[in-house]
Amino acid sequence: MKVETYIQSLFTPDDKEYGHITNKMIEIGMPTISVSPETGKLLTLLVKMSGAKKMLEIGALGGYSGICLLRGNEEGSLTSLELEEIYAKVAKKHIEEAGFNGRVEMKTGPALQSLKELEKENTEFDFFFIDADKENYVHYLDLCIKLSKPGSIITADNTLWSGEVLNEATTDKDTRALQAYNQKVAEDPRLESLLIPIGDGLTIARVK
Ligand SMILES: C[S@@+](CC[C@H](N)C(=O)[O-])C[C@H]1O[C@@H](n2cnc3c(N)ncnc32)[C@H](O)[C@@H]1O
Repeated sequence: MKVETYIQSLFTPDDKEYGHITNKMIEIGMPTISVSPETGKLLTLLVKMSGAKKMLEIGALGGYSGICLLRGNEEGSLTSLELEEIYAKVAKKHIEEAGFNGRVEMKTGPALQSLKELEKENTEFDFFFIDADKENYVHYLDLCIKLSKPGSIITADNTLWSGEVLNEATTDKDTRALQAYNQKVAEDPRLESLLIPIGDGLTIARVK
């Protein structure tokens, strides 16, 4: 049995929302690239353990990771940034159907633009989840730090990229971007951080 299967069978045996959202996305031709249920559960636990209330995610897709974040705090709210209008509508519907009505605000368009708008509004967040275009991860990190406060948590998915990040000779743009992200998070003096090898890799950081 693979380690991943062992963890899933014990700790996330039946996430109904994951199954439901995946089926709906297949029906309407969306890519099924949500976080894995175990990564989703880690997000929920991190929100619970940190007591985060104001959360922001970059990359909504079908709404599954948004649901995992909102599961972490009964009083929490989520700002979700998504490039595609149609995905944002699907995500909002799924998040509301999961019982989180009125607790999510979708912002559509390129996330870099949305983040700059939030910066102008002087908004602060306690928890960030980065899961969109890999080439912008390092830029998202800088903007998330600007929108953070001491103790805020910044997480990012796919930071192992199926193990490809180990390939130092790679010329693949996404792999290079993820290597640069991990290096930046590891070395940034404003952060304390770690890469957790769960799902496709989740890099977590706490703002000092
Ligand atoms: C891996 S999926 C997100 C999965 C979602 N976080 C989940 O686990 O349920 C990546 C998403 O990022 C969105 N995206 C890609 N480029 C973007 C950009 N520049 N700004 C905002 N969203 C973007 C895609 O449309 C897609 O929905």
